[in-house]
Amino acid sequence: MSNYLDISQVSIDFPTKSGPFRALDGIDLKINKGEFISLIGHSGCGKSTVLNIVAGLYQATEGAVILESKEVNSPGPDRAVVFQNHSLFPWLTVYENVELAVKQVFKGHKSKAEMREWIEHNLELVHMTHASHKLPAEISGGMKQRVGIARALAMEPKVLLMDEPFGALDALTRAHLQDSLMEIQAELNNTVILITHDVDEAVLLSDRIVMMSNGPAAKVGEVLNIDLPRPRDRLSLADNKNYNHYRAEVLTFLHRKQAKPDVPAKKRDNKTPPQKLKRVVGG
Ligand SMILES: Nc1ncnc2c1ncn2[C@@H]1O[C@H](COP(=O)(O)OP(=O)(O)O)[C@@H](O)[C@H]1O
Ligand SMILES: [Mg+2]
Repeated sequence: MSNYLDISQVSIDFPTKSGPFRALDGIDLKINKGEFISLIGHSGCGKSTVLNIVAGLYQATEGAVILESKEVNSPGPDRAVVFQNHSLFPWLTVYENVELAVKQVFKGHKSKAEMREWIEHNLELVHMTHASHKLPAEISGGMKQRVGIARALAMEPKVLLMDEPFGALDALTRAHLQDSLMEIQAELNNTVILITHDVDEAVLLSDRIVMMSNGPAAKVGEVLNIDLPRPRDRLSLADNKNYNHYRAEVLTFLHRKQAKPDVPAKKRDNKTPPQKLKRVVGG
């Protein structure tokens, strides 16, 4: 169960004109099968870089990513990625976009009829059956994102990697998709790493929230266990004491990082508390 996915002391240096740029420094994270992890942190801290390393798109300079005892060195269908801006092929229909991924993974293992059934099943999971014949240009942003998720799920990945998948959507659509993701994950027990800057989203969906320190040389800052029973319901959580406590913890972490970006702890002074907070407290 434990150490299903092991991100072990991962550092990465990007080559730049002025020499290597260390974006991540010793990221260490052990993830269980079926666990839902959110990565949260300020823009540019290195969240996408972590995801890209797990996806096998970037190679760590030091350390390694181990999935089920095998080192990850290249992209593979066992790790499906959903990006913020859907990446559907515009000339293929909704159905064909999912079909492409399914053929890639299951050719030779599933018959044509089985593949058709499997594609339809995954489109159903995200409530997109009614639009399966449409082109990406003919559906809304939220629907495109649903197709991206269906495509990722249809690959039956061991790990689902999501980089701000709902970031570009309106609040209502985002809420719908978060709910569907919770349902799907409960049913399929996927292992998920989700990048988000939405604190409510992180608390609602996660088993653990990994808060990253600011870059360069970003590290895991704090890890928060979200001990809320599932299934979770956003409405009843709104006045749940624990929910609000977790929310405040994440906000405090981010606020602290915002107030003192990129300053090593020992150089920090106490002369500049967050101004807005001070005024509120002072009335
Ligand atoms: N391919 C790359 N080459 C050089 N620098 C990069 C590359 N990818 C990311 N970076 C740098 O690494 C840091 C982390 O980037 P990123 O992972 O995209 O942050 P986040 O997703 O948290 O906003 C940033 O300073 C970014 O400029
Ligand atoms: Mg990013």
